[in-house]
Amino acid sequence: MATIALLSGSLRAESSNSAVVATLRKLIEEGAGGHEATVVPLRDFPPFDEDVEHAGLPAALEAARARVSGADALIVCSPAYNGYPSGVLKNALDWLSRPGGDSPLTGLPTAVLSASPGQAGGANVQPHVRQILANSGAAAVECDEVAVGNAISLRTPDGLIEDPAVLSRLAKLVDTVLAAVAAR
Ligand SMILES: Cc1cc2nc3c(=O)[nH]c(=O)nc-3n(C[C@H](O)[C@H](O)[C@H](O)COP(=O)(O)O)c2cc1C
Repeated sequence: MATIALLSGSLRAESSNSAVVATLRKLIEEGAGGHEATVVPLRDFPPFDEDVEHAGLPAALEAARARVSGADALIVCSPAYNGYPSGVLKNALDWLSRPGGDSPLTGLPTAVLSASPGQAGGANVQPHVRQILANSGAAAVECDEVAVGNAISLRTPDGLIEDPAVLSRLAKLVDTVLAAVAAR
């Protein structure tokens, strides 16, 4: 049984990236194998500050970090802001990259996808997120690209994605990540 940490790069209450994360959670927890998903709360990462780091991590940040350090893999769903990940996502990944060389990201299998209201689903942001993760020592899981286009209109009132074509791509990504974890 694996535990997969899930991180959305948007703080917005009706975020489409968070809807993708909620859908991934459902797929993982309701799929075969009894796997678990843990959503990492983006809001619990304060602006990165080495003074805060040296003084001792706030409890909420420590708990968010523990969700990643206790997981077998991490899936990140990123919005594109001017072609780059949101500042708050980069901030969270900076926290998770600490301490350098021995962080929760070191050697952790990671997969990246994106969601946006545009047709291209923010696909152009993905290489940047993968580069940040690689620079932080994470291991990339090779997956087919998943970029959820028209994502805001696909979000249901329950905060999920139910479009069959997208669901099928998300399920394939989950299977690929779980297979990578099992192969370690
Ligand atoms: C400052 C800013 C820049 C944006 N740049 C892009 C972009 O480069 N590509 C894109 O597809 N969408 C872009 N968008 C639209 C976001 O994808 C959209 O706000 C999206 O809903 C954010 O994700 P969320 O639904 O998870 O909150 C931008 C939005 C903002 C606020």
